[in-house]
Amino acid sequence: MNEKEAIMIDSLGGWRRSHDCGSLRSKDKGQEVILMGWVNGRRDLGNLIFIDLRDRGGLTQIVFDPQVNEKSHERAHVLRNEWVLAVKGTVSAREEGQKNPNLPTGDIEVKVKQLKLLNQTETPPFQVDGMVDASETLRLKHRYLELRRSRIFQNFQRRHLIASCVRAYLNKNGFMDVETPMLGKSTPEGARDYLVPSRVNKGEFYALPQSPQLFKQLLMVSGFDRYYQIVKCFRDEDLRADRQPEFTQVDLEMSFTDEEGVIGIIDGMMQEIFREVLDVEVVLPIPRMEYQEAMDRFGSDKPDMRFGMEIQDISDLVQETEFKVFKQTVEAGGKIKGINVKQGADSFSRKALDELSGLVTEWGAKGLAWVKITEEGWQSSLKKFFEDKQRDLIDKRFEAYPGDLLLLMADTPAVVNPCLGHLRLDIAKKMELIKEGEYAFLWVTKFPLMEYNEEEKRLEAVHHPFTSPLEEDLHLLADHPEKARARAYDLVLNGSEVGGGSVRIHNLDMQEKMFDNLGISREEANMKFGFFLEALKYGAPPHAGIALGFDRLVAIMCGLDSIREVIAFPKSLRATCPLTGAPSRVDEKQLDELGIALK
Ligand code: AMO
Ligand code: AMP
Repeated sequence: MNEKEAIMIDSLGGWRRSHDCGSLRSKDKGQEVILMGWVNGRRDLGNLIFIDLRDRGGLTQIVFDPQVNEKSHERAHVLRNEWVLAVKGTVSAREEGQKNPNLPTGDIEVKVKQLKLLNQTETPPFQVDGMVDASETLRLKHRYLELRRSRIFQNFQRRHLIASCVRAYLNKNGFMDVETPMLGKSTPEGARDYLVPSRVNKGEFYALPQSPQLFKQLLMVSGFDRYYQIVKCFRDEDLRADRQPEFTQVDLEMSFTDEEGVIGIIDGMMQEIFREVLDVEVVLPIPRMEYQEAMDRFGSDKPDMRFGMEIQDISDLVQETEFKVFKQTVEAGGKIKGINVKQGADSFSRKALDELSGLVTEWGAKGLAWVKITEEGWQSSLKKFFEDKQRDLIDKRFEAYPGDLLLLMADTPAVVNPCLGHLRLDIAKKMELIKEGEYAFLWVTKFPLMEYNEEEKRLEAVHHPFTSPLEEDLHLLADHPEKARARAYDLVLNGSEVGGGSVRIHNLDMQEKMFDNLGISREEANMKFGFFLEALKYGAPPHAGIALGFDRLVAIMCGLDSIREVIAFPKSLRATCPLTGAPSRVDEKQLDELGIALK
């Protein structure tokens, strides 16, 4: 056979796979099988040629032996990585010493009687099954090749399993899957909209949904009672590891219930999916913490509860001191707070402490003071400013013992809390305090209802403007709206916000009062959400809901940091798709039809 004949492509010719490449075991010895897949690797020993054949099920070693079939053996010399094959052959036990304990199929091999070459390939731009990693742009450009890697494919199997479990759970709890429009009107989730121009109505635009928020509330007005949807949402915002311009939510809404109803459903869902998918038992109820407490103790509205290192307030203990920074801060109404890095004294050299100090200044703090606790007491430039008794009281507050490191900061709560919150996370990473495979859930509740937007010089809804204020804070709305809290809740997992929702306003008066507080005029409200305000007039039931960030949940359940790894065709950090080249310019003709002229 010449080379040209050897690389001729065969047709499938009616062959059907008997197994996938991950399923054959010793018990199948002697069976005749048909496998199909890609060449994952090859060893040509001259007389014997071994190939690892790969499909999504796994790898199987196939052997070409001239004694079995001379022609197939001869053709096998030309096969290269990633070529597509079909083989018919017999399962045989590998000899002792030839077994591969790292492979589920490692006890057997398939002796090839007949080979079909189904397709060839150009040399791939990077090794499909290798450790050598190409740049992200190149990998995204050929994402279909990267997705062949079993490590990555497994993330999608898991994603599918989690989605199936979520659906099964919601279905049996009386939720109904209802689709809502993608071409809609701007929804108020606070990001920029992706706009779609209308050809039929020139000069007018649809907005892709930032979430199905208003539609799901309308379904409650319709009496659908329990709605869910695993749905794409679109937000034009700055991207990060846990943010994509299009992402998926598990979105749900429930009637005639309140925060307890929603939290109860999600608690049960987390327990079920973690049990089914990871064999991890989530203890219920998931603990709850009010927003203010989370900020005070952890410096974050999404505290990572996998480790301690809580923030302590020592303002009351250091009022009387010669250390001017502390004294003046307390006098000005600021706070002196800090964290105790348990057994951290030896882990942080002077240089490392200077680096931490540099870090917190970048985050907006004025400085960072430190105290190393030794058997002989404090080692710190601050020691001289405090009396023995003061130092004892501070040690006590931090439960500090020899070997510990105290990091202290003086500033306004708005600076101290988030800076120490960041520092806490940074140090936990540096000291490897977070164990892999640990999951710590937390509900954060009673968020502020509104916050001041410095740029726009007005109050803004923290969650969205359809969120109910807390009843006990209603009296604040008139004079101190910024102090009122919301019936909003976030689900936090391992320091990541994996969901957010609220009890909604279901009465028109209240909704209009909210718009007044947010400085949204009646005209503006009517223009943007008139259809929704109208619906509230027609017997809206009390209702509440939540949306889970599905990509984030899946990424955490796969042990991954970036949601890009659990999205089949993600966007780059510049919101582009290196694979398709989107976004791209369009024809003049298309623009003309839409009545659009580019500047
Ligand atoms: P929210 O805006 O909090 O609430 O979104 C819900 C959850 O979606 C996830 N998420 C994202 N994930 C990836 N990329 C993004 N760009 C992104 N933005 C948000 C987060 C977040 O917790 N309609 C309300 C829900 C409700 O009130 O019922 C909403 O969308 O995990
Ligand atoms: P200074 O007197 O400015 O040299 O500061 C003495 C020490 O206090 C240095 O370690 C500073 O980093 C630290 N320091 C300065 N400002 C603050 C602050 N606001 N909070 C905590 N430590 C500070």
